[in-house]
Amino acid sequence: MSNHDIGIIGMGVMGKNLACNIANTGYKVSVFNRSHNQIMKILFKKPIERLFPYLSIKKFINSLRKPRCVMLMIQSGIPVDELIQTLLPYLCSGDLIIDGGNSFYEDTIKRFNFLQKKSIQFLGVGISGGSEGALKGPSIMPGGTIEAYELVAPIFKNISAKYHKEECVEYIGSDGSGHYVKMVHNGIEYSDMQLIAETYSLLKNLVGIDNIGLSDIFKNWNKGELCSYLIEITGNILCKQDEDGNFIIDYILDSASNKGTGMWTAKSGLDLYTPCSVITESVFARYLSSYKANRMIASTILSGPQISKISDCDKEKFIKDIRKALFLGKIISYAQGFSLMKRASARYSWNLSFSKIAKIFRAGCIIRANLLNDISAAYSENNDLIDLLFAPIFRDIVNSYHFSLRNIVSIAVSNGISVPVFSATLSYYDAYRTVNSSANLIQAQRDYFGSHTYHRIDRSGIFHTDWLDK
Ligand code: 6PG
Repeated sequence: MSNHDIGIIGMGVMGKNLACNIANTGYKVSVFNRSHNQIMKILFKKPIERLFPYLSIKKFINSLRKPRCVMLMIQSGIPVDELIQTLLPYLCSGDLIIDGGNSFYEDTIKRFNFLQKKSIQFLGVGISGGSEGALKGPSIMPGGTIEAYELVAPIFKNISAKYHKEECVEYIGSDGSGHYVKMVHNGIEYSDMQLIAETYSLLKNLVGIDNIGLSDIFKNWNKGELCSYLIEITGNILCKQDEDGNFIIDYILDSASNKGTGMWTAKSGLDLYTPCSVITESVFARYLSSYKANRMIASTILSGPQISKISDCDKEKFIKDIRKALFLGKIISYAQGFSLMKRASARYSWNLSFSKIAKIFRAGCIIRANLLNDISAAYSENNDLIDLLFAPIFRDIVNSYHFSLRNIVSIAVSNGISVPVFSATLSYYDAYRTVNSSANLIQAQRDYFGSHTYHRIDRSGIFHTDWLDK
């Protein structure tokens, strides 16, 4: 019977949970995995209602109603191209392939163009929320043609996270736009996480707060303007103990991994001439953390100041300053991410709606935060907003909170505690609000050694000076 609504290939945890989510909402789902993995074995042994496992790709495809919708939940990169090649002989004109992995958006654009020539529809879909989100409701960012999106929109709307009944899925734009937006989501995820990690470091090392105290602080902050998924899980992580009563956080190796999406965001910032220093610095912070062996050597060779703890009478103010600095850092990181999407939207003619993007980030995804309501409101008033920091609500916060950021960065620096993303946030903020920067000297140097020319502030035109002429 060819009447199943959608097929999912890739029965890893994400694929399986997404398939279960779709089946739970009443759709018939065919599933296939290249190998007969553990999950497939379980699916055959203990069938799940409306979920149909297949061992042959031909039978899997034939089980789908036309036009067939086949969703790939597999590792990004070459495996996606290989699988598309495998699928092609079984598909007919008008069928739809959906890539639900964390694919690089330029690959998605290439695949979209390639498949269009073969009359196969293609959607590159960003999905955020981890394994739990996939099962209970992710945030979904589909990119491709609107016609292709409409084929699966009812399913996506049903399975997506809901923010006060509003579905966290919106058509993003053509070709690679969905994966691009997911990539920037991840870039913001990196800086959000790094800012929280630096906060943890300051509270632990400068204020001397223990894990339970730290957990309480994050749980308390989560009741206010910082309210977000990442603050919430940090509160839970810090108080978690193992079977021996040890705090797990104290036993985790301080070497952070990554799968590359933050790096792609940073690279895109460079490609599109858009300063994403906060996101980029958070990627470098992960890289540096992974140089554990070097850091151990450096700690015995390279010196720094003694840490002097914050005095009891200053603790309360310092903790308050950290909270404000963290919120300011978060705002600037989102502002950089949205500026990058704005530049990409113009570059690729995606016509992105930033208000809608902020809305679908409000539930299901990893960077979900109360702050996104204000971001969405700011862009719904003006999608062409030059910068999020210019919206009155954010302007007022940054104008008041930058004093706190200065205070904590200067105390961290004088104590030799590394706060790369807080520092990057402050440097960006100060550089951004500076009318007369030092770039005049850069231009003079370029002209001196390379005749690269410069503009003058008092006359129009292009100038070159013979700098050696006395
Ligand atoms: C999400 C996440 C997810 C990502 C992990 C790991 O939105 O659900 O962004 O897609 O894979 O966060 O990313 P790193 O391994 O690069 O930290």
